[in-house]
Amino acid sequence: MIGQNIAQAAELLKRGEVIAIPTETVYGLAGNALDDHTVAKIFAIKQRPSFDPLIVHVPDWQSLENWVQNIPTAALQLAQQFMPGALTLLLEKKETISDLVTAGSPLVAMRIPAHPLAQELLRLLPFPLAAPSANPFGYISPTRAEHVAQQLGDKIPYILDGGPCTIGLESTIVGFPEGRTTIFRKGGIPVEAIEAVIGPVQVQAHSSSNPQAPGMLKSHYAPRIPLVLGKLTELIPQHQGKVIGVLSFQERYPEIPSERQFALSSSGDYTEAARNLFSAMRYLDQLPLDLIVAELLPEENLGRAINDRLRRASSKN
Ligand code: TXA
Ligand code: MG
Repeated sequence: MIGQNIAQAAELLKRGEVIAIPTETVYGLAGNALDDHTVAKIFAIKQRPSFDPLIVHVPDWQSLENWVQNIPTAALQLAQQFMPGALTLLLEKKETISDLVTAGSPLVAMRIPAHPLAQELLRLLPFPLAAPSANPFGYISPTRAEHVAQQLGDKIPYILDGGPCTIGLESTIVGFPEGRTTIFRKGGIPVEAIEAVIGPVQVQAHSSSNPQAPGMLKSHYAPRIPLVLGKLTELIPQHQGKVIGVLSFQERYPEIPSERQFALSSSGDYTEAARNLFSAMRYLDQLPLDLIVAELLPEENLGRAINDRLRRASSKN
């Protein structure tokens, strides 16, 4: 069921149920982070391998401090600037956070979502919420309640509808291995914005082999229809014999029927493009196409996180 009843959502969560909740990045598949039975249910519903840990969501910094220790200075500086928001910090966990949530790691991923419904819900609960993105493992993250309903609607009792996600990309994940601030997943907070606060940081290279590297399994974000990346002015004529869909940054292509193309932002606005990305991929993926052709954005600002998702969407091919 889709609805906007926060009290009902809180009631279900208190009973150990798993429900979908809105955040400003993407929708999450949420449950009591302190209850291993519920956490196991999240992994099962999402069909997620147990070595891939979950983010723990809290309403504010004060509650965050209940679950972690030895917080580095750089983390404090970033938190001051970007929490609540699209930032996730990898911090040393206290014992009360179970190994199931962190997949055995001594670090726990902590996030304070800014979405008003998520905020209100978290404040009603006596426990934090573990929540991965509310998509089946390996598929595109949901940015609308309907996206969740389409794929997980029959597996969960409630989807809290907070409208379309305003950011539309998952949170940026930052950790501090050996004291070096490192971006493990590019996301809704651009690398440049982070560097403006704390100076140059390391950005973890895309890797599919290291389960320590968050969100880095290669099959992530993939549509069902094969997606190829390149120059659209070359790809479109190259695939003339096929039924293709076009995913572009700004331009539209008159030789392609308009319902088979999606321009992420006609004005070239990165924020708008990010907000549209996953909806666009889902839209094209439900058309009867042989192939989706797509182009990368300039490698700056949110373009970097968008490109990361596009590369992973194409990596099957
Ligand atoms: O925006 C977001 O971050 C959304 C919303 C719902 O908060 N959540 C999200 O969760 O994207 P998920 O599970 O789809 O991606 C979280 C990534 C995973 O790839 C996981 O490997 C990594 O975070 N992660 C979580 N806990 C970690 C830990 N303790 N150490 C290293 N990586 C961790
Ligand atoms: Mg995910």
